[in-house]
Amino acid sequence: MDDFVAGLPKAELHLHIEGTLEPEMVFALAERNRVTLPYASVEALRRAYEFRDLQDFLDLYYQSTQALVAERDFYDLARAYLARARDENIRHAEIFFDPQAHMRRGVPFGVVVEGLSAALTDAARDGGPTSRLIMCFLRDLSAENAMSVLDASMPWLNRLTGVGLDSAEAGNPPGKFTEVFKRARSLGLRAMAHAGEEGPASYVAEALDRLRIERVDHGVHAVDDPALVARLAKERIALTVCPISNIRLRVYPDLRAHPLKRLMEAGVAVTVNSDDPAYFGGYLNANYRAVEEAFALAAEELAQLARNSFAASFLSEEEKRDRIAEIDSYVKTQTRAT
Ligand code: ADE
Ligand code: ZN
Repeated sequence: MDDFVAGLPKAELHLHIEGTLEPEMVFALAERNRVTLPYASVEALRRAYEFRDLQDFLDLYYQSTQALVAERDFYDLARAYLARARDENIRHAEIFFDPQAHMRRGVPFGVVVEGLSAALTDAARDGGPTSRLIMCFLRDLSAENAMSVLDASMPWLNRLTGVGLDSAEAGNPPGKFTEVFKRARSLGLRAMAHAGEEGPASYVAEALDRLRIERVDHGVHAVDDPALVARLAKERIALTVCPISNIRLRVYPDLRAHPLKRLMEAGVAVTVNSDDPAYFGGYLNANYRAVEEAFALAAEELAQLARNSFAASFLSEEEKRDRIAEIDSYVKTQTRAT
């Protein structure tokens, strides 16, 4: 089944580019930029990758972003992820970035987005995957700050596909960003938000109703509200679930307790994603393999997760059809072979 996952064409819809910063790259960039790190070695930094919860992880994640300073750093970071994505047969990636994590350290918006978008363009030219950029607002900062970032992004609007909402969820309900999302949507940006990761099911409903999001990032706690699960299924609102992340951040004690299978069985359009793979020790194929093993998923169920990933993407309807047809023919060749 490992080979089946490896060859399966997939889209990744929940990936923080800063979460692909491997410890080796943190050290290489810190040296290049003469940034001092509070860790003696790559091994010492990697040993710190044991997290009590989301906030504990975010503290380290933001600390390591300090190594990212110049346009070339953002370029190199994104090229490294996209090369890896190509090796994993990821045909399309919708990539989050956190401009405020950089702007508050004095790195201008343009430096971040020029570096990232050049990498996306070059990777697509050099054999893929195709990709899109999604700007996330940090929900533990103010709505005014988010609005000022949206202002700052204006000259680069054509590089952005959408907006998201991430960082510390507890105590930062989506409704705080109603006006920001309204304005972003009026500018033609697609909307999504992290909701129901550590926060309750009511945050998922609030993000749908007040932010008018098109898909939910994580959303696993929706499972606690059967009416909400029925709504997600009926309205075909996809969840970008990140199984290994949820275990590493102790949202669930282990995958057997994880609601992924229950949500699939309730008809929700579940997708599988890696979130911050450098920190959680598993890129996309490792996430597919983990759920395959935990829930004894058949090839057809894995293929359905991959179909969902294209269907829930911001590709054109024609591109979605083409990618899903590729999955169908892949499944045919594989089932013939076994
Ligand atoms: N930023 C990076 N990864 C995140 C996650 N899993 N939840 C919230 N914010 C994040
Ligand atoms: Zn995330």
